[in-house]
Formats: sequence, structure tokens, C-alpha cells
Amino acid sequence: MYRETPHPIFLHDYQPPEFLIDRVDLAFELDPEQTMVTARLELRRNPAATRGDGTVCLHGEQLELEWIALDGHPLNPVDYRVERESLTVQRVPDRFVLETQVRIHPAHNTALEGLYQSGDMLCTQCEAEGFRRITYFLDRPDVMARYSATLIADKTRFPVLLSNGNRVASDDLDDGRHRVRWEDPFPKPSYLFALVAGDLRAVEDSFTTASGREVALQIFVEPHNLDKCDHAMRSLKKAMRWDEERFGREYDLDIFMIVAVSHFNMGAMENKGLNIFNDKFVLARPDTATDVDFDGIESVIAHEYFHNWTGNRITCRDWFQLSLKEGFTVYRDQEFTADVASRGVKRISDVRVLRSHQFTEDASPMAHPVRPDSYIEINNFYTATVYQKGAEVVRMQANLLGPEVFRRATDLYFARHDGQAVTTDDFVRCMEDASGRDLSQFRRWYEQAGTPELHIQTSYDEATRTCSLIVRQHTEPTPGQPVKAPFHLPLAIGLLGPDGRDLPLRLAGASSPDAPGTHVLELRQAVETFHFVDLPARPVPSLLRGFSAPVKLSFDCTDDDLLFLMAHDSDGFNRWDAAQTLMQRLLLNLVEDAEAGIPESFFDAFRRALRDEASDRALLAEVLTLPAESYLGEQMAVVDVDGIHRARTTLTRLIGERLRDDLLAVYRDNGESGPYAFTPEAVGRRALKNLALGYLMQAEDAEALARCQAQFAGAHNMTDVMAALRLLVDRGGLESRQALDEFYRRWSGESLVLDKWFSVQATSPREETLTQVIQLMRHPDFSLGHPNRVRSLVSAFCNLNQVRFHAADGAGYRFLADRVLELDPLNPLIASRLVKSLIRWRRFDPGRQALMRAEIARILEREDISKDVFEVASKALD
Ligand code: ARG
Ligand code: ZN
Repeated sequence: MYRETPHPIFLHDYQPPEFLIDRVDLAFELDPEQTMVTARLELRRNPAATRGDGTVCLHGEQLELEWIALDGHPLNPVDYRVERESLTVQRVPDRFVLETQVRIHPAHNTALEGLYQSGDMLCTQCEAEGFRRITYFLDRPDVMARYSATLIADKTRFPVLLSNGNRVASDDLDDGRHRVRWEDPFPKPSYLFALVAGDLRAVEDSFTTASGREVALQIFVEPHNLDKCDHAMRSLKKAMRWDEERFGREYDLDIFMIVAVSHFNMGAMENKGLNIFNDKFVLARPDTATDVDFDGIESVIAHEYFHNWTGNRITCRDWFQLSLKEGFTVYRDQEFTADVASRGVKRISDVRVLRSHQFTEDASPMAHPVRPDSYIEINNFYTATVYQKGAEVVRMQANLLGPEVFRRATDLYFARHDGQAVTTDDFVRCMEDASGRDLSQFRRWYEQAGTPELHIQTSYDEATRTCSLIVRQHTEPTPGQPVKAPFHLPLAIGLLGPDGRDLPLRLAGASSPDAPGTHVLELRQAVETFHFVDLPARPVPSLLRGFSAPVKLSFDCTDDDLLFLMAHDSDGFNRWDAAQTLMQRLLLNLVEDAEAGIPESFFDAFRRALRDEASDRALLAEVLTLPAESYLGEQMAVVDVDGIHRARTTLTRLIGERLRDDLLAVYRDNGESGPYAFTPEAVGRRALKNLALGYLMQAEDAEALARCQAQFAGAHNMTDVMAALRLLVDRGGLESRQALDEFYRRWSGESLVLDKWFSVQATSPREETLTQVIQLMRHPDFSLGHPNRVRSLVSAFCNLNQVRFHAADGAGYRFLADRVLELDPLNPLIASRLVKSLIRWRRFDPGRQALMRAEIARILEREDISKDVFEVASKALD
């Protein structure tokens, strides 16, 4: 057990900082084994704070203090106290300069927070609380300072030395080292500090801002990756232009740098002027990266760039406000992708992620509001709730206000709060002030956890030609929140006439009819009734169009209604959702009764869709994809792991058998043509073609196998190669082994491609997968110190392979807990993320529940587990 139970931190305990820091001058003598950090801080008492006891207490962890001086005078040991996580200086004046020198050890920093070694380079990750592992500081986002950084390092090993802002001086020292000085003119919180040292090369370009300023753009990578930066650079320029056009936001420094590093805990980091990226979100060549990778790069590059305004210029007052920057920035990157690619497809994939990650989190012991009110370890709150639900909450406000007013509201936000550290409440107030609307009830979206359930009953009265909707909302209790008040939410609806077209909508009592199309109802009560009058015929309702609110919707409709919506709904999202609901019904029937038939009408609809030449292929591929096993599990009272796998495999095979000729035609018609292009059109063709191949392979079609092997051997892009490899591996046998060996021979030198080799094996539903994964843990290319590799093997198995991870004998659970215990002393953040795969134990049968709980308990028994793991594991058993 944890020696002393770690204490939570509460939002309601927030106090402004007693001291502010105006200026920070840092000097680093960089060396992987030991780096000396000298810091000169200009502190002054915060006029807005209540007076303390005349001491100042700075954060610091794992620092070896070499010396300390106040206003130029070295301090006596009686004047300060060093503890495990702090440095307290007694009797300080209202304004003073504090100088410290500490020693740190980057090469031994396996947590990858603070200054650490990644491959041959040194880099930093300071969000959320990594800066305190670099120097003593008031490491909280509401302390904003101007920084300079002087970096000294061996010139041959570390020819490139980078930090935030502008490079203002550089010279060579006579001991083989060189020195570079950087100054960042913008005040920033410490979590945005960054430095990089390495033997790097840059791809360079430039961007002219709307007001005509020239910005130098540089992407730094290890030399052998120089040929994989084009897509990232293109994405960056697109994002810069889009933010000017859509949000009126111009970049503010003369230089913008991105560095790709191989060892990184998360996706990427928006440090001022010097974004540091997991190389997975930078490096791409058509033959090394899939469409999904290209897509991820475009949106993560945009996301981090957008943070320059939503995060850096305006930052968070405290970490409870994390969604202020993350929710808004995710919303912005979603809109960017919607504008530059396909809006419909983007919405579908965002909702998929929301439902599979956020809804499940909201129904788990880790459920928390978009603005949490307590945490033990903030790293545990970089969650789907803060990011994706936070984005939905911004999206609802944008939709309630409408595009013009929302733009005025964001302009107001940028003008009013530039240079400040603020709260989600300040954001909502700007929405209110710009629109004149009252959003007080809407604020519950930030305060209450849990996914609202919307139940809608519709009826039609022939005599009065009126369609009535009774809408009920209800939110289940979540930990610490037994009772929920109703939410204010937009419900977008349409009513389809017999010909499939939208009918004109007129609410009873309203003077004139709306134009045919979508009407947005605003819900505020637990139960509300709406009457649409003057309808020419009984309509089929299309509800929650575009997924206008992050809720679980249930409504009474027949399979025929769903087929009708799937064929006709003017809302692309709802066409997809109708198809998903229908397939979910068929599959859950099959889970209950393995002999249940599949109605002919389903195959007809599927066939019609396949033959529809006119339709957008990317959208079609989404519509024709069966719901994931994990998602199906969510729809059951108790997840039937094996039943779901059997049912989904059966339906996949039936589709492959029954629609063979159409699938083969689709496969042939959408083959690789010409050089790789990352356009929505080309991406859609590949997605549809590979989906068709998947159905055919499940049907054990001989022609399909030949085509699959040919595609694996001959394709010029990684999307098609991986799709074929995946299908060969899942099929098993000699072909699988050969393909894996061949793939390894070809790509073992490319770390990111090798990750795919690991994960394609870890996610295979074959019975022997866990055995295989355990063997792969011993592969020379596997390392627990490399987060991308851990994610590609261990996390992939635990999170993306429901049927094998949840094997009834508990072997998957034991495997996971063993890995958590191995990883925790090295990298608590990664260990803690893994624990999350166990916390939904209540969703399973008693046998599995007991096995999962036993593993969580085993984790908690370990002495000195990290705060990170303790928080998740202990909440899981609460
Ligand atoms: N701000 C980064 C992003 O969303 C995430 C960094 C989180 N890192 C961490 N160690 N918690 O783009
Ligand atoms: Zn972010």
C-alpha cells in the first residue's frame, strides 16, 4: 500500500499566488548524465493575494541544490528548507531576486517529464508539472513570466540548441562547447517552457501572415527523417492560414519551430514558438504512413499551432481549467479538418471517438466533469472528457449562438483575456456578453459529469396532422454526484416526408413555418413536449442531427424507419447513425440467438449503397462499417465478450458471402491509381476498397485471398499494405507468417513502421494472440522505455482487442497488471493510462469482475506505487 495516502487537490481551495515572477533567466550546461541549471528569478509580492507568513515556497522535485542566493547574497542553510517537493525561503522582502543552481540527470529521467534524453537528443516536456523537475519555481499556470534561456553544450554532439522565442546570441566556447541564447518576448506560464539539444536537421519554409509579416517555419528531425516532413509542413501552413480566416488569429513571433522526438508520453506539446512532437505526428511518407497517420499529423499539427492563441496567449488559471484550452483547441482542430477535408466524415469519426472513449469514461469510476473539482495527479485528467467532451461543449455554444455571433464572442474572448490566465467561466461569460444570452444553466455542462440520456417518444395525429415529441432527459449518478439537474442543450431535428425529403417544420404557436430542413429545439427541462403542425403526412423523424449534443439518444423506431433514414436523411451524420443503429440491432439479436436470421432488406440496402456510384466513398465506407466489438459491449447490460465476437464475425462473413460480386466490383473499381494523394477522394477510395476486401476475406473467398496477397506485395502506399497485412494476420497460417517476416525485413529500420508490425499482431482476434504478445515483449526491438512501442504492443492488446484481453481465464488481466507494475517505477504516466483498461470491471460478468478486481487489488498492494496509478486504481475499487 501507498505509505501515506496521497491527498487530493480541490478547485475550491484555489488561492492566487502569493508571489509573482516577472522575469526568468535560465542557463543550462547540458549533458545527458548531469546538467547544471542556473536560474535567476525576479519575484515580487502579488498585490492581489492575501499576505502570507513572509516566506516563499517554490516547487521542485528531484533537484540537487548546489547553491542559492537572495539579492546577490548566498543564503545560510537556516534561511531555507529543502523538502522532497519544495524549497522554502524564510523572511523574504516584497521584491527580490532569487538565484539557484541545481543538478539534474536527463539520461536517467525515464518518466519523460522535465528534461530528458530521447535517442541522442535532449528535450523537455513541462506540461503539466514538469518544469519543477528542471528548477525551483512557482510551477503553476497563473504565474506568467518573460524568459531567457542560455544553452551550453558540446558542439559536435549537440550542434542544434533551441528554446522558446527568438535566437538572440550564439558563440563558441574554447572547450569544444558552444552557447546559444534565446529570448521569448511573450510572458508565459512555466509549462510552456521548452528546450531541445541535438544533432538535428531542419526542413524550412516560410509563411506570410495576413498583415504581411514573414514567419520562418522550421521542422527539426534526425537527419534520416528529412524526407518525411513534407506533409507536416503543408499541414502547418494550412493551419496558419485557416486560423487567420476562420478566427482572425495571426501568428505572433518571427519564427515557428517543430521538433520531432521518438520518446514522448503524449501526442505533442504546444510550447511557445517551439512545439515538441511525438514523431508519430510529424513523420510521413506515402510508403511509411497510412491515411490515418496522415490525418493524425494534419490535425495534431493544427491543434498545437492553434494553442498559440487558445492556450498560450490566453492560458489556464489552474489545472482544473484544462478544458479551457484543450476543449476549445480540439473544437478548433475539428473545425479545421471539417473545412479542409470532409465535414460529414469528420463528424462521424469524432462522434465515434466520443462514444467509444468519453461515454465509457463518463460511465466509469473515473467519471469527472469537463472542469473537474478535484484530482490527485493532474496527468490523469488529460482525458476524453476534458478534450473531446470539452470540444462538444464549445460546439454546442457555437451552435446556440450561430456562426456570426460565435465569431464575435471569440473575438471578445481574445481581446478581453489576451495575456491572462483565466477560467472556463470567463470563456462562457464572453459567449454571454457577445450574444446577450443567459448561459447559466448551460454551465452545468462544465460542472456535472455523466452522459445525459435522451429518450424521445414521437406520435402522429392524423386528424390534426400534428407530430408530437415528448423529450425526457436523465443523467445517471456519477462518483460524488448522486443527483443531476437537467442540462440546457440543442436538439437538432428534421421530419422526413414519404418521399424522403425534409418537410417544412412549424411548431404549434409559431407564426410562420420554417423552411424545410433542420430545426433546433432548445431543451432545458427534464421533460418537454413539442408539437409540429400542418404536416402533409406522417413523417419519419430524424433526431439529434449532426449529433447536436453529446447525449445517448433512444427513440422508438422500426427497422424500416432506420432503413428509410439510412437511404434518405439529408443529414449525412444521421444516415450513418441510422445504419449503425440498425446493424447494432442485428448484431445484438445475433448475440442473443446465434441462429437469428438477417433480414433480406438489410442485404438489399447494403447492396444498393455499394452500387451507388454517386455517393461519397469515404462516407459510404463509414456507413458500411459494422460497429466495433467494444461499442456493442457498451449497449449490453453485461458485456458478452465471446458472443459479440462471434456475432460480429458471423455478420461480416455473411456480408462477404451474400454480396460477393458487388464487393469484388467495388474492390476492383477503387484500386490504386497513380501516385499517392492525401485527398478526401483518394482516402475514401482506399477505405472503401479495403473494407470490401475485409468482408470478402472473412468469407474465405479464394479470389479475395489472392488479391489480398497481391496487394500486400505490390501496393505502394502503407494504407493498402497495412490493410492487407491486417487481413492476412487475422486469417493466420503460413501466409500470415510470411507476410509478417517480409514486413519486418523491409521495415525494421523504421521505428514508426515497426510499431505497426507490433500492433497488427497485438490486435488480432486469433486465439494465440496473448501468447504471441508475451513473446513479442522479449523481441530485441521491444522496450518498456519507449512509449510508442509500449502503446503499439501492450496498450493495443489491452484496449483494442476486447475478445482476447477479456479472455475468461483472466490471463489478459494478469498480463496487464504485470506490465503496470513493471512500468510504474519507470514511467507513472504510461503505467496509469494502462490501469484505465481495468476500471470498467462492473460491466462484465461476475467471473471476470472478480478477476479484474483481483488485479487492481494486486496493483494497490505494491509499496510506493505512483500517485498516478494510486489515483486510478483506488477510484476503480471505490
Ligand atoms: N497540451 C498537450 C496537448 O494537448 C498535451 C500535453 C500533456 N502532457 C502531459 N504530460 N500531461 O496538445
Ligand atoms: Zn492540446
